[in-house]
Amino acid sequence: MEVAETIAQVRSLVGAARGRGKKVGLVPTMGALHTGHVSLIEAAVNDCDFVVVSIFVNPTQFGPGEDLEAYPKPFEADLEICAKAGVDLVFAPAPEQMYPAQNLAWVTVERLTEPLCGRGRPIHFRGVTTVCTKLFNIVGPDVAYFGQKDAQQATVVKRMVADLNMPLEIVVCPTVREPSGLAVSSRNQYLSDRQREEAANIHKSLEECRRLIEAGETQAARIIAKVRAKLQEVPSMEIEYVDVVDAETLESLEKVSGRVLVAVAVRIGAARLIDNIVLETGG
Ligand code: PAF
Repeated sequence: MEVAETIAQVRSLVGAARGRGKKVGLVPTMGALHTGHVSLIEAAVNDCDFVVVSIFVNPTQFGPGEDLEAYPKPFEADLEICAKAGVDLVFAPAPEQMYPAQNLAWVTVERLTEPLCGRGRPIHFRGVTTVCTKLFNIVGPDVAYFGQKDAQQATVVKRMVADLNMPLEIVVCPTVREPSGLAVSSRNQYLSDRQREEAANIHKSLEECRRLIEAGETQAARIIAKVRAKLQEVPSMEIEYVDVVDAETLESLEKVSGRVLVAVAVRIGAARLIDNIVLETGG
């Protein structure tokens, strides 16, 4: 496995692989790799001949007061995980490599970035779409892999790729969960053991919601109230949002119909956690 810190190194190594006819897969990450990332890497190793993992804590997707400084950076452990998983190249640039000057060019996706996490994190998705565009331009992958846990991010990136005719495929892989049901996330590291147990309630709330919809409930307001009530069984859990939206347009629904995304964001102590389920409903 090679480790590159510069764009020139990446272009040269990926160019050589391409010259040998290799299909290139990219797994963009911010490091602090966990089993969720490993599942993305495994999918890439399975589908592609040359797998690149980027490790870059992207400053432009963090708003003021967010956890940019505290974000975990266990770089050596991340490299070990990548090597074991069969990665060919890790791209780990310094911020100056990715943003050598004040950034004036941004990629934005309208509408899809406004609801859900966009309400509380108004600059977040602009940072994500800009850095993903940079990574796609630097690596030039045939396929890039994202997790369903970040459902809005996956929808936004897919739309950006489609609208801007970017020549790659976006693959979205299922959410990986701890035995308790808690979705794995680098931010779970901020939780104490007790908070970690309490955070399992997020998945329980979403599963209750699934049962409710499967039993025939169609009114979004009633579904949201039920999920909120279940989440509030953990008093330390601060709800940022619970929403029932169309899985493609991310527009709020009054009545569930078609492919529906139920998405939740909460805070427990220092951690902001998100999770979701997608349901195919009638109508
Ligand atoms: O999901 C993440 O870890 C980040 O948002 C991404 C896609 C690597 C962009 O910085």
